[in-house]
Order: sequence, then structure tokens, then C-alpha cells
Amino acid sequence: MTNDTSENAESGTGWIDQPDDANVIAALVEKIKAQQATIAASSKTHLDGRIDRGQHQKQTLGAFGTLRIFDTIPPALQQGPFAKENALAPSLSYRVACRFSNGQPCPFSDSAADVRGVALKFFTLQGTETDLLMTNEGGRSHARNAVQFMDFADILVAQIAKGAVGALEQASMEVFGGKLGPIETARIVAILAKETKLRSVGSLATERFWGSVVKLGTAAIKYSLQADDAAMQGTDGDRHGDSYLREDLLNRLQKGPLKWQLCVQLFTDEESTPVHDASVVWAGTPIAVGELEISSLPSADDETCINQMAFNPGNGFEPLGITHARKAVYAASAANRKDRGLLSTDEARKHL
Ligand code: HEM
Repeated sequence: MTNDTSENAESGTGWIDQPDDANVIAALVEKIKAQQATIAASSKTHLDGRIDRGQHQKQTLGAFGTLRIFDTIPPALQQGPFAKENALAPSLSYRVACRFSNGQPCPFSDSAADVRGVALKFFTLQGTETDLLMTNEGGRSHARNAVQFMDFADILVAQIAKGAVGALEQASMEVFGGKLGPIETARIVAILAKETKLRSVGSLATERFWGSVVKLGTAAIKYSLQADDAAMQGTDGDRHGDSYLREDLLNRLQKGPLKWQLCVQLFTDEESTPVHDASVVWAGTPIAVGELEISSLPSADDETCINQMAFNPGNGFEPLGITHARKAVYAASAANRKDRGLLSTDEARKHL
């Protein structure tokens, strides 16, 4: 692949992938199972021992919408879900399942500091299941890689299951046992504080969400969802309610459609758009490739159905960097929670 940065900027090529070792990924698959079991067994979570999602358990809204792909997008991006069959074919438009969520591994009040997420699922004209998963952490993850993400998740799980003392014990093991180390722990805590405690979210309709690196054609890309500029700022509802983020979206939907632009950034070089460090915000202007619109209130059945879908960043895109491990861990998390009801690809397809 070329190493010329200006050429890379247009093609998204020139990247070198460094997937985690298979043994490392297998250990993370075991770790998510243990975390899910700990959360389910804790009397503090009221899950009655039943395993649910390993992360992002609280669905703030599940609704069907439409993703329209723009007709004119750069050639490097006319691939996979963004590629029309030919120039004369009608514009691409997909029915999409949208799951908005809070990041914690068990449900908390929306007023608690948390990462917010959105997961989208649709099927391409060729029938490929395609998922886009994004969080509002400012264009990066708090963790550099999947091992770090899961080591830090161990501390959060201990905090939920055993309270502050448990978290301190776990943190001591992770920090002083040499796993995370004090400098990396401080860096992670600083990012999470900045994105969740110091910047409280008024509405998910005015937020911006980013995914982690994946491969589209030969390009390495990061996708994001950018709120509609015209969206009213603030919260439409009682800001102090436990489910104010949900209430806000429902109130907004009663007044009109919700819209976000889907954008893509292309890899240029490892320093400014790293494939192997998920904690770095990618440089470069995002390119708008489509528009997501949710125009009607979901029914209770819609919400139940979407909550039972399994979203995976490896669906529809080849993984790169941190996304390799994510692909395996999400599949494990979904399989572990199947007793709560889990839609297979074919079952999900019937709704999309
Ligand atoms: C930039 C990085 C990341 C982003 C944007 C992200 C985003 C998301 C989102 C939006 C969801 C909710 C999916 C849904 O609604 O069903 C989710 C769930 C989840 N995430 Fe991540 N995540 C990231 C990193 C990671 C990493 C590194 C791991 C662990 C290796 C991880 C583990 C999980 C798990 C286990 C679930 C629940 C899956 C399920 O049971 O369906 N995430 N993530």
C-alpha cells in the first residue's frame, strides 16, 4: 500500500493493521462473560441473576428510521453499504433499526454521568447485515485498545457490584498489579470525566457520536453521526427525571422528525488518524455520506424488538485495530444474554 500521505487522504489507504493476538481476544471473551455474570448476580443491579448486555444495557430509545445515502460521495467511499449498483440506479435508502443507549453495564438514571451510544442496523441490497455503533466520547474511546477497555471495565463492574470499596480493591489490582498503570488510569479517568461528568448531555438529538476504525473497500475509515444543526438545544422535558433522555426524544418526535448526518473520515497516516490507538481523535474533515431520519414514535413492540437485536461493529465492515476484539466480544456478550431474547440475523432481517 502507498505511504504517500496526500494520496492516502483521498483513498484512505496506507494503513497497517495490528489485530490483537487470538489468545488475547479469547481472554477478553472470557472476561466479558465474567463481567456479565458479576453484574447479573449483584443484588444492587436488580437483574435477578439474569444476564443482559455486557455494556450499554439501558436502551434510552429503540426506533425504526431511514438512512438515505447521498448520490454524490467521494469514489473511495462508494463501497459496501454506500455503493449504488450503477450511476443511474435510484438513490440508496435503508430502513434502519436505531438503538440509543447509556454505556454502563447495568441501567442507571439518565442523570448519572455516562457515555451515550447509538447502534444502527440495516440490510444492504445484497442482503448484508450492516451495523454502525457509535459513542459520544468526542471522537475517541477512553481506552487505547480492547485490553485496556476491559481492564478498566473490571473496575466499573466491581464498583457496581461491590460499591466503592470493591472498586478500590479492583483498581489497586489493575493499577498496581501493572495492568493499567497509574499514568494510563489517570488518562482514562480524565477522558471519561471530560466527556461524561463535565459535559452533561441535554438531548441525544443534539449529540455527535463516533465509531471505531473499520475497513471500507481498501480504505480505513471512522464513521460518525452528527446532529442536525437546526435541532433545538436543551432538553424537551424534565431534566431531572431518571429517563429524561428518552422523554426528550419522545417529546421531540411528537413535534417532528429527528435527523442526523452520517459522516466518514478517511485514514491519512498513523500519527493523525491512528488505526492502532483508539484513544486518539482523528484529524481531517468528516465527509457527509447520508442522512438518518426518525420520523415517527416507536411502538412498544418496536422497542422490544430492537432491544433484542445483536449489534456488532464487525457486521458489514471488515474490522481494523480495536474493532477486531470488539467483533468477538460483542458476539460473546450477545450469546451470553440469549435467555433474555435475542434476534438472529434472519429474525432481524424480517423487521428491516
Ligand atoms: C470506540 C470504541 C467503542 C464504541 C464506539 C462502542 C460503542 C458501543 C455501542 C453503541 C454499544 C451498544 C450496542 C447496542 O445498542 O446493542 C456497545 C455495546 C457493547 N460494547 Fe462497545 N464500544 C466501543 C468499544 C468497546 C470495546 C473496546 C469493548 C470490549 C472489547 C466493548 C464492548 C461492548 C459490549 C460487550 C457491548 C454489549 C454487546 C451486546 O451484548 O450486544 N466496546 N458498544
